[in-house]
Amino acid sequence: MEERIITSEFKEEDVEVEYSLRPQRLKEYIGQKKVKERLSIFLQAAQIRKEPLDHVLLYGPPGLGKTTLANIIAKEMGGNLKITSGPAIERAGDLAAILTGLSNFDVLFIDEIHRLNRAVEEILYPAMEDYSLDIVIGKGASAKSIRLDLPKFTLIGATTRAGLLTSPLRDRFGVMCPMEYYDEEELKEIVMRSSGILSVTIDEEAAIEVAKRSRGTPRIANRLLKRVRDYCLVKGHGHIDYATVKAAAQLLEIDDEGFDQVDNKILEAIIDNFGGGPVGLETLAYYIGEEVGTIEDVYEPYLIQKGFIIRTPRGRIASNKAYNHLNRIIPEGKVF
Ligand SMILES: Nc1ncnc2c1ncn2[C@@H]1O[C@H](COP(=O)(O)OP(=O)(O)O)[C@@H](O)[C@H]1O
Ligand SMILES: [Mg+2]
Repeated sequence: MEERIITSEFKEEDVEVEYSLRPQRLKEYIGQKKVKERLSIFLQAAQIRKEPLDHVLLYGPPGLGKTTLANIIAKEMGGNLKITSGPAIERAGDLAAILTGLSNFDVLFIDEIHRLNRAVEEILYPAMEDYSLDIVIGKGASAKSIRLDLPKFTLIGATTRAGLLTSPLRDRFGVMCPMEYYDEEELKEIVMRSSGILSVTIDEEAAIEVAKRSRGTPRIANRLLKRVRDYCLVKGHGHIDYATVKAAAQLLEIDDEGFDQVDNKILEAIIDNFGGGPVGLETLAYYIGEEVGTIEDVYEPYLIQKGFIIRTPRGRIASNKAYNHLNRIIPEGKVF
């Protein structure tokens, strides 16, 4: 598959850079006002009561700062952070081992928590509710269950698909944090901050141009900034200005909305091949040559949020905005 710079999925090259660009404290964390406010209150309350923070569920599209927040919470709590993910925990015993290895005030971060299997998930219920672990010793008639006390820890679950969580699991989180796309101003700030860390100078105007093309996502903003920096190093004068960003974006084939060829292919398909829709997700995915899940999780949310695609029970419809974007004539009588 072609490399996609604007994907919000995590890529290898992000590892070292993500680490250095990650805000370490809640105060440095830009945007997500509601989530930050909520967490800040509950963190303070927990500190006053000298108890661990209640379990937190962070949900929303990739690249919006969930892992970053988990790091920050652990720092603010003064505990250690243990990171794992739903698919990585295969057996109930694996999770039991992780839980018994924790200390009071530690934070256990489970990424992609919707992908935990059922047997593992059931271990979590008493662990979250009573800080206890039920284990069965022996087999058959002589088997008996004993209950172990666990340290008082905070579980942070992250997911891109909150709808896929079972309700017993969802109900055990005390703090729900829906993550939202960032606005242009917030992304501009993130770009300016990241430029400082990457030791490259950038005009405010140029930072806005990067922000505009970042699909509301800090991970994409940082990645695009890195590419612009490379472009600047080779073609520019070591300082990022408006023209540099424009030229770099053109080279990368990212348009003014931050869409790349795949996004435009999706819009084109709906308009040119399916009469503007509605077209079912499966049909669309098949036509584009992408996985249904990828379109649903990665591509479509932003197109919908920006009003280019409308989701209806009968399928996806291209909006008038999409027609205008692709310079197509809007059919007579088309309302949206
Ligand atoms: N609020 C923020 N302020 C500044 N940078 C951020 C913020 N949120 C995310 N980032 C940047 O975006 C990158 C991706 O965030 P991450 O927490 O890994 O996203 P997620 O876990 O939701 O996929 C981080 O490395 C960080 O540099
Ligand atoms: Mg993450």
